Amino acid sequence: MCLIPFPSGFFSRMNNRERWRFFKRATVMFFLAAVALTVVHRGSIDMKSRFELERQVRMHASDGVEPNAALKEEHMFSVRVKDFWDVAEQKQQPELIVTAPSEKLPATEGLSPTSWDVTTLNCSPNLNLSQQSWFRDLGSNFQQFLLYRHCRLFPMVFNHPEKCSGEIFLLIVIKSVATQHDRREVIRKTWGKEQVLDGKRVKTLFLLGKPSNEAERENHQKLVEYEDKIYGDILQWDFLDSFFNLTLKETHFLKWFHTYCPDVRYVFKGDDDVFVSVENIFEYLESIKNEKNMFVGDVLVKAKPIRKKENKYYIPEALYNETYYPPYAGGGGFLMDGPLARRLDRAANTLELFPIDDVFLGMCLEVLHVTPTKHNAFKTFGLVKNRKSRLNREPCFFKNMIVVHKLLPAELMHMWHLVNSDLVCSQKVELL
Ligand SMILES: *[C@@H]1O[C@H](CO)[C@@H](O)[C@H](O)[C@H]1NC(C)=O
Ligand SMILES: *[C@@H]1O[C@H](CO)[C@@H](O)[C@H](O)[C@H]1NC(C)=O
Ligand SMILES: *[C@@H]1O[C@H](CO)[C@@H](O)[C@H](O)[C@H]1NC(C)=O
Repeated sequence: MCLIPFPSGFFSRMNNRERWRFFKRATVMFFLAAVALTVVHRGSIDMKSRFELERQVRMHASDGVEPNAALKEEHMFSVRVKDFWDVAEQKQQPELIVTAPSEKLPATEGLSPTSWDVTTLNCSPNLNLSQQSWFRDLGSNFQQFLLYRHCRLFPMVFNHPEKCSGEIFLLIVIKSVATQHDRREVIRKTWGKEQVLDGKRVKTLFLLGKPSNEAERENHQKLVEYEDKIYGDILQWDFLDSFFNLTLKETHFLKWFHTYCPDVRYVFKGDDDVFVSVENIFEYLESIKNEKNMFVGDVLVKAKPIRKKENKYYIPEALYNETYYPPYAGGGGFLMDGPLARRLDRAANTLELFPIDDVFLGMCLEVLHVTPTKHNAFKTFGLVKNRKSRLNREPCFFKNMIVVHKLLPAELMHMWHLVNSDLVCSQKVELL
C-alpha cells in the first residue's frame, strides 16, 4: 500500500543511509497520524464521559461533595486537547518538546523535600563485583542487575505533582511500558476511568521507564510524550524498562507517593493487562472500615524461590539463600492503604533491591511486621489453573472479582461491556 506515488527507481537510487532515514520519517508520520486519530476518536467518546461527569456532579451536589473538582478537571482536559492541536499545527517548532517537569515547578520548590529532587543520572556500574568468582558464574541478566543494584534514584521524565492534590479516595497505579499504548487506552476507557464514585474521587496513573527496545525508542518516546500531553497521567523515570528493573519502578513509585500524596486513602497497584472492578474494590473497602496496615491481594505464603535456571522467576542462591520468601501478594493487582504505602517507602530504603518486584514488596512488609491478607477476589495468577478453561472467560465470575489476570486489550474491552451490561448470573458467587 503506497499513498504517495514514487518515480520508478526511487528506492534503488537511495543508499542505505537515505533509505533508513526515509523509513524513519515515514514511521514517525504514521505514528503521528495514529495519535491524531486517537485524539479525534477520544473527542467523540469524551462527549459521553462529560455528560457522565456532570450527572455525577449533580447526583452528589446534594451530598455536599466537592462538585467543582470534577468540573474543573473536565475543563483542564479540554484545554489540554486544544493545546495538543495548537502544537500539532506548528510542527517542527522546538516548543513541541514537553518541558522537563522540574522546570515547571516554582524555583522555591526545587530543593524542598516535597518535590522529586533527583535531576541527574549519576550511576556507574559496580566493577568491584567482576573480580568475584560467584559473580562470574551468574547469568548475564543477574550480572547486569547486580552491577547497577546500588543505583537507587533516577530522574523523572514526566512528573505530575498535581495529581494527588485534594482528597483522593482511591489512586489507581498501573505498571506499563512505553510500547503498550493500546493497553493504557483501554484501561482509561474501562476500569481505570477517573471518576467520582459515591462522592469519592478516583484518580489514575501509569508508571513507565524508558523503552528497552533501542530501535523503536525514539518513536515510542515521542508517542508517550503526546499521550501524556493529552491525558496527563504518565509518570516516567529515566531507567530501562526491563523485567529486573520492575523493582525500581516499585521503589520509585513509593518515593513519589510519599512525596506528593499526603491525602490519598487507598492505593490500587496493578499490571496493565488485568481486569479490575472498582465497584467491588469500593465494596470491599466499605466492609473493612478503616482497618490499619491494610494490604490485600493474591497472597502467597511460604513460596519457595525457584531454582530452575530456565524459569522466568529463577533466583540463584547467591542472591537469596533462604528456603521461603516472606508472604507476598502477586504484583498483578493489590490494594493497600495510603499511610502504609508511605511507610513502605521508608522500609524499602533499608533493603537491598531484589529482582522480583512483588517479592521485594513482601520483604518490605516483613520489615514493618505487616502480614498481607489473602482475598479470593484477587486472581493475579489466573482464575482457573487450566488456561483453556471456559471459566476463564465467564463474565459472571468476573463480575464478582476484584482483579483477574490476564486479558489482551480487546478481550478486556469485551469483558468490561459484558460485565457492565444487564448481565444475569443464575448462580451468585459470594466472594465479597
Ligand atoms: C568498590 O570498591 C571500592 C574500594 O573497596 C569502594 O570504595 C567502592 O565504594 C566500591 N564501589 C561500589 C559501587 O560499591
Ligand atoms: C535498569 O536500568 C538502568 C538504567 O537505565 C540500567 O543501567 C540497568 O542496566 C537496568 N537493569 C537491568 C537489570 O535491566
Ligand atoms: C545467606 O545470605 C546472607 C546474606 O546474603 C549471608 O550473610 C549468609 O551468610 C548466607 N547464609 C548461608 C548459609 O549461605
